[in-house]
Amino acid sequence: MKVLIATEKPFAPVAVEGIKKEIEAAGYELALLEKYTEKAQLLDAVKDADALIIRSDKVDGEVLDAAKQLKIVVRAGAGYDNVDLEAATAHKVVVMNTPGQNSNAVAELVFGLLVFAVRNFYNGKAGTELMGKRLGILAFGNVGRNVARIAKGFGMEVCAYDAYCPAEVIEAAGVKAAKSQDELFETCDIVSLHIPATAETKQSINKSLVSKMKKGGIVVNTARKEVINEDELIELMQERTDLKYVTDIMPDADAAFQQFDGRYFSTPKKMGAQTAEANINAGIAAARQIVGFLRDGVTKFQVNK
Ligand code: 3PG
Repeated sequence: MKVLIATEKPFAPVAVEGIKKEIEAAGYELALLEKYTEKAQLLDAVKDADALIIRSDKVDGEVLDAAKQLKIVVRAGAGYDNVDLEAATAHKVVVMNTPGQNSNAVAELVFGLLVFAVRNFYNGKAGTELMGKRLGILAFGNVGRNVARIAKGFGMEVCAYDAYCPAEVIEAAGVKAAKSQDELFETCDIVSLHIPATAETKQSINKSLVSKMKKGGIVVNTARKEVINEDELIELMQERTDLKYVTDIMPDADAAFQQFDGRYFSTPKKMGAQTAEANINAGIAAARQIVGFLRDGVTKFQVNK
């Protein structure tokens, strides 16, 4: 059996070593395609792969057509919007993710971005502190929960809203539950986005929602660029010169956002999950899930059931 790691944005070498150990201990072979620049390279590499480990790499019908031996794809991470689930199911390929394995890394970056934002991107002028500010967490999944934990350490007031998580569960974690997404934006100084990119959430962070924020509001995005209505956010930030947007996923309209000097920042490449720890956790989990599936038929974490 051949397992291919195909990562346009590579794992830390120590994580690749860990994955290799797991795969070889099961008697399988590991192949590596890193930093590829053309889809053709991926199409070629998947030809004889029985299993595939990816990150944000796109797996569509064309990739699945080329991967004649493929039985399983594991997205080493949380969001699997980069995999065409319908096409995978049609090709009888199991798709899994590794939920929770990189969530602390992403949550820590939220605060890296926030301290940078409230200190005016380190321009030397007096900024503000996070202590005492009200943080709104949009979606209370693995990352949202880690964000809540760290926010308490900063002395922030923490509030969350999740359309799929009952208020009692949020309150049980010592976090105030907002009744709606609107209430979260209306009442919080900062809103941190942790929603997946789905048909329902795409473009949902729009002008009417963000305009509800108080003066000096900050939106921090370590989720997906697709959830933002970029044109409307630009329009709003032109009208509301008090708002800031900091993101770990460069918007398509990055050039236009650059007009907001001192109010906008994007990392050049998504790096929320880019820590050795997160790479090891997610990578090894992916390897174990592959072995569990190929050897014992375990389908825990399958997302295309
Ligand atoms: C995830 O969904 O797990 C994160 O967005 C991390 O994505 P990455 O593996 O592409 O860094």
